[in-house]
Amino acid sequence: MRATDVIVKKRDGGELATDEIRWIVDGFTGGDIPDYQMAAWLMAVYLRGMSHREIVDLTQAMADSGEQLDLSSIIPYAVDKHSTGGVGDKVSLVVLPLVAAAGIPVAKMSGRGLGFSGGTLDKLESIPGYRVNLSDEEFMQQVREHGIVLAGQTKSLAPADGAIYALRDVTATVSSLPLIASSIMSKKLAAGANAIVLDVKVGTGAFMHDLDQARELAQIMVDIGTTAGRKMVALLSDMNQPLGETVGNAMEVREAIETLRGGGPTDLREHCLVVAGHMVRLGRQDTSPDALANAMVELAAMLDDGRAFAKFRELIAAQGGDVSVVDDPSKLPQAPVKASIPAPQAGTVAEVNALLVAQAALELGAGRARKGDAIDPAVGVEVHHKVGDQVAADTALFTVHAADGTGLAQARALLARAVTVSAQPHEALPMFYDTIYGE
Ligand code: URA
Repeated sequence: MRATDVIVKKRDGGELATDEIRWIVDGFTGGDIPDYQMAAWLMAVYLRGMSHREIVDLTQAMADSGEQLDLSSIIPYAVDKHSTGGVGDKVSLVVLPLVAAAGIPVAKMSGRGLGFSGGTLDKLESIPGYRVNLSDEEFMQQVREHGIVLAGQTKSLAPADGAIYALRDVTATVSSLPLIASSIMSKKLAAGANAIVLDVKVGTGAFMHDLDQARELAQIMVDIGTTAGRKMVALLSDMNQPLGETVGNAMEVREAIETLRGGGPTDLREHCLVVAGHMVRLGRQDTSPDALANAMVELAAMLDDGRAFAKFRELIAAQGGDVSVVDDPSKLPQAPVKASIPAPQAGTVAEVNALLVAQAALELGAGRARKGDAIDPAVGVEVHHKVGDQVAADTALFTVHAADGTGLAQARALLARAVTVSAQPHEALPMFYDTIYGE
């Protein structure tokens, strides 16, 4: 086979055979196909798209490019979750200990933030000492001992995705449905879960801006998982406004801790209960009609009576984090400069643009523009109002937490643009738009 033939076939709109897809993925991962040919192929995929069958084949080839985690000796039925990435998305920090507290062991590999989208590993690293890089043995040992592990992805897992993602990032081929679906699902398949809950975000602060696109992505990922023999649920959730009330690493950890202690913002608590409810239902293989509702009631009690928080403490301690910081979140990194952004007029909040809020947090240093950039865990944005809220003129809409003057003016300008306050009434945004089942 020649790389140019496979590129030409896709460039001209052809459907690639299973062995052609595997050949190009293996060739690139093994170093036999150079970046420039893979880049051309990725652009051809970006422009021409892929059939369902091609996407399933691409995902499987990427999942097979490295080690596949076998959790079966430790966890009889493993459940995982994945969010397609959003703004203020600290759901994993709450959901993992919550599900583990309910007796379902969880072994999750998470990522770092890139661009507008935050990452669980960056958030966890604002807890001094927390180790995100565990060896395979440490990862397995911790699940065995504690029933919970939350760490970075090992290099041996789906290495094709790491290599392809790096090339997509610099060749304007990230926002392609087949490439996003195969990237996410190759890692999930290789991570060995029997059942997977996908939180597919839709809106201004998500990869997918409209519901039809998000539904298509969710359906493809559900089909990929089902074809590979996994039970799948995809939630289509709103990401037009930030989730919860904070965007910024340490601030989000603080909010997650409040939620794990039975408080926290209502939208975040509800979102976490739905995601965790599906994970528990799948983990117990409970197919009764009330399974989700029953699991959510049980999980809400665990948030309120301290069991979920106790599991979070156990996780932090097991991975070397300073538990005194979890017990007293005021010890988390705090930014010295605080500035309030007031409402321009009285009325109803009609928009809190998640992308602009994320860009403001980026200007302050909360995220990275390029892989490997340093981040400041202390900085970020507090979001005091949501779409549908009534506000008086001069009510604080945001509080900016900044290190110094760096980025403050830009953040202020972005946040002023992020909000629309209208004289007309405006409905609150839904949290979820739909659920797709592949069971
Ligand atoms: N998350 C991933 O892991 N891959 C993508 O391509 C997009 C989001």
